[in-house]
Amino acid sequence: MAATPQTPAWPQEGLTRVPYWVYQDADLYRQEMDRVFRGRSWNFLCLAAELPGPNTFRTSDLGDMPVVVTRDAEGAFHAFENRCAHRGALLVFKPAGSAREMACVYHNWTYDLTGKLTGVAFRRGIKGSGGMLPDAQPDAQAPRQLKIENYHGLLFGTLADGMPPVEDYLGADVAEKVRRVMAKPVKPLGGYSQMLPNNWKLYMENVKDTYHASLLHLFFTTFRINRLSQRGGVIVGGDGGCHVSYSITDAVKSDDYEKAGMRSAAGGFALEAPEVLDSVDEIGDGITVQIVGVFPGFVLQQIKNCLAVRRVAPRGLESTELFWTAFGYADDDQARTELRLAQANLIGPAGFISMEDGAATGFVQRAIIGAGDHQAVVEMGGRDVASNESRISETSVRGFWQAWRARMGL
Ligand code: FES
Ligand SMILES: [Fe+2]
Repeated sequence: MAATPQTPAWPQEGLTRVPYWVYQDADLYRQEMDRVFRGRSWNFLCLAAELPGPNTFRTSDLGDMPVVVTRDAEGAFHAFENRCAHRGALLVFKPAGSAREMACVYHNWTYDLTGKLTGVAFRRGIKGSGGMLPDAQPDAQAPRQLKIENYHGLLFGTLADGMPPVEDYLGADVAEKVRRVMAKPVKPLGGYSQMLPNNWKLYMENVKDTYHASLLHLFFTTFRINRLSQRGGVIVGGDGGCHVSYSITDAVKSDDYEKAGMRSAAGGFALEAPEVLDSVDEIGDGITVQIVGVFPGFVLQQIKNCLAVRRVAPRGLESTELFWTAFGYADDDQARTELRLAQANLIGPAGFISMEDGAATGFVQRAIIGAGDHQAVVEMGGRDVASNESRISETSVRGFWQAWRARMGL
């Protein structure tokens, strides 16, 4: 099934080319919301720990569709569309909180925490006058319910029927790396969101682009947190859309970036508080950076002791909201929490590492404006989609497009 009659064909080279119209076509964007985010995908909603007990809620998104995630009076999780059955207003405005019921602010229709309509204001009118007819069905347009799965503390949601379990969706090798981080109960430390001036796919490609990290991010290379010469690898899982990249800081310092004249190793930088990079090998396997990307819009991050989840919410063709939640383990002591918070200076919109990602993806969106009939070249590490010991590879970017094209029929 073609996306639209006027959508150009995918380049004949296949996964090694990405045509620039995929970031610029408004019809394609609307179809993505239905076929990718509201189609056969598991979408990360939030950490289970962000809903600390019964009668709590927080808001999230399924693509551009607002969603409410709740825990009912018994503590069971639910997720449903954040849209009133009456005239379609948002039911919940606050990002998170506690409540026993929800009332739409527009005309005061009420809902329980499972998303079921429980009351219609003045349904029978007043003194026999006004109100709804007896045969009216006010819940006929009730908010859609999501199926959810709590995978080791990560809440995923989908509108599709018959989805495989999250573990199968990730693939066994990626799932193992998710469980490596989510090995014990977590506690949220704080969060924020940032607006990215680009199509959502450019950000997810950036996350899966293991080639760029030590070339774009001066901080990574200068302070030897991540270099392509270090031991590591990239694992591709699921139908190609899930991946892990990881690296291990070297004991022996190589100078390959300096010899090659890479901008990111230009030198001249030092930290006034180098202890911010003192890290603890708390998982015990020596992996110092691990990034997991899950199609379509989820990232689980370990950079030294800085743990975070990131969630992509498209806000239009060329605008993306990126939500970050930093977390630690529930049994962390004060010193460990402070270490995580200090290292959180590396991430987020002004993070010493992450700030450059939003800039780079914005540069692409700006540069391709007149090049809809041209293509990006994705040939690092070959032409296929496969796990690889070298991170000088774009294999997981090709995997992203494999998953995307399967859902879009392109
Ligand atoms: S739109 Fe919600 S009660 Fe009218
Ligand atoms: Fe990056």
